[in-house]
Amino acid sequence: MIPQEFIDELLARTDIVQIIEPRVALKKRGKDYQGLCPFHNEKSPSFTVSQDKGFYHCFGCQAHGSALHFLQEYERMDFVSAVEMLAARVGMEVPRQNDGLPKEVHRERRTIYEILERSSDFYKDQLRNYPSRARAVDYLKSRGLSGEIARDFCLGYAPAEWDSLQTAMATSNYDRELLIKSGMLIENTDEDRSYDRFRDRVMFPIRDLRGKTIAFGGRIIGDGKPKYLNSPETPVFHKGRELYGLYEARRRTARLEQVIVVEGYMDVVALAQHGIDYSVATLGTATTSDHIERLYRLVSKIIFCFDGDDAGRKAAWKALDTVLGFLQDGRSAVFLFLPDGEDPDSLIRKDGKERFEERLQEATSFTDFFYSHLEIGLDMSTPEGKAALSKLAVPLIHRIPEGVFKQLVIDGLSERVGLDVEKLMSASKGYQQEKRAYVDDAPTSSYATEPKAMVPHRDDLDSQVDQAISMLLIQPELIDLFEPQDYAHLASDPTTHLLVKLVEYVSGQDNPEPAKILSHFNGTPDFERIQRLSNREQLLDVSQFADEFQGILKKQLTRMEAESKKRGIEELLRKPMSALSEEEREIIRNHHQKKQQGAS
Ligand code: UTP
Ligand code: MN
Repeated sequence: MIPQEFIDELLARTDIVQIIEPRVALKKRGKDYQGLCPFHNEKSPSFTVSQDKGFYHCFGCQAHGSALHFLQEYERMDFVSAVEMLAARVGMEVPRQNDGLPKEVHRERRTIYEILERSSDFYKDQLRNYPSRARAVDYLKSRGLSGEIARDFCLGYAPAEWDSLQTAMATSNYDRELLIKSGMLIENTDEDRSYDRFRDRVMFPIRDLRGKTIAFGGRIIGDGKPKYLNSPETPVFHKGRELYGLYEARRRTARLEQVIVVEGYMDVVALAQHGIDYSVATLGTATTSDHIERLYRLVSKIIFCFDGDDAGRKAAWKALDTVLGFLQDGRSAVFLFLPDGEDPDSLIRKDGKERFEERLQEATSFTDFFYSHLEIGLDMSTPEGKAALSKLAVPLIHRIPEGVFKQLVIDGLSERVGLDVEKLMSASKGYQQEKRAYVDDAPTSSYATEPKAMVPHRDDLDSQVDQAISMLLIQPELIDLFEPQDYAHLASDPTTHLLVKLVEYVSGQDNPEPAKILSHFNGTPDFERIQRLSNREQLLDVSQFADEFQGILKKQLTRMEAESKKRGIEELLRKPMSALSEEEREIIRNHHQKKQQGAS
């Protein structure tokens, strides 16, 4: 960790133009500099560098940041290297280790890294020198891997003994506790003994972007369970964040432009063996937004690779749902569905590089997968089917960042439903926060023609109100969109109670800044919820807040009106007909009539 003060000072001393100009042709325009944006394709310059402020900004793709960001994005440097490079230019020395964490924590992490590195060396060495190493060597050969690939991926072998690693490490006097903490030994608490976690397995070290070993996967030789054993979560390894093969992919390709996301260690290694050097594997988990964020920092195209069966399609949809919010212009995601019973490892061995890359070319586009999946179970020749499709699609489309790509997806919807989609998009804004859990949970075949999303759930109503509150905290003027009597109405309902409290406070303030609002609620039972909502990540652009806010509140009002009507009718129904006025009888007759129509 490098102290923020140092970074600030470093950026203050750095001339951002001098950093960018050698890499992007810039022309002076007034106070600022302009050029063609290096982060997306464009014909007229919208990339601006402000020398005074030390910032670049692209009006086309919204890329922006400091000289440090620029080096990270453009040169694909990691943060520390970028800092070092800038510091060297201005002759500053980079201070370290002042992140407020106690020294012991740093020492511990350092030791864990060291243990993992040593373990990796040890396993590598065993693959060459262990007396009965032939089992492992033959196994790797049987999987079609060469010595060269084994070397590049630092593959190793954990001998079939309880303590070979432990014994090897003992000579270095490592704390047993840290060997356990690093995931390499397992403690047997009953007997106060420990033994090697990985035994008689082919070892795949997992490395971070700097090439440091942070964990291992170990494959059993032949059949048996578990097939793969992985390091546990440790201070240096968090499964949902890491991708196997990313370091190797960056090293093996001159300039990484796309990445294939596959499931298995062996898939990554086999693809590399056949000359496809740009694949990574999630570590037995679904693709997380951490993964996607990390990948889009390095490449502009992600190819998700899945089995062609139901489970594969489900997993692909999940990936689509996760990647949606990251698809700003210039980035793309496609889906490759594999033939039945194949994985990338088996397929590349049959296909070879050329045919496999053809498949990559023919992969399903985001838009095609998006609509074909949503259309499952809908009859698109009927108006109901079309309406159902837009109800499903619109909330998802709203989560795509503004830009040309989003417009293409909207056009796709327009084509399919044959309607003016601009209208559709704004009319259905109130729906966008509804949960659509059934898409993930239900087997694909059970899609209802009438999507459940049309009948909002209690939870959804709550979460919509949460959304309204969070927008209000950012843009208090939103309260002017409704009349006091509307709020009075909403105040009586528990779902909207807090929202109204907030409205009441805000309307009494000249300058209701978020910090002021927070401190007003500090110490009240509502504080925690308000604080949480004030930190919420917004999926919408501020320009969309008004529409969204209006949609949500209108829906609440409609719901309350319907509920109160229902209550009124129930009350009337409890009374004898003779006690009702003519007007009330009319209401009851209407009610019965409607019910009958609804039933037929
Ligand atoms: P697969 O079961 O699809 O195996 O697991 P694979 O990649 O085809 O492996 P080979 O070809 O039989 O050697 C895919 C991934 O799921 C995780 C691993 O990350 C594996 O690479 N996994 C699988 C585990 O973590 N543990 C297991 O027991 C199985
Ligand atoms: Mn396999």
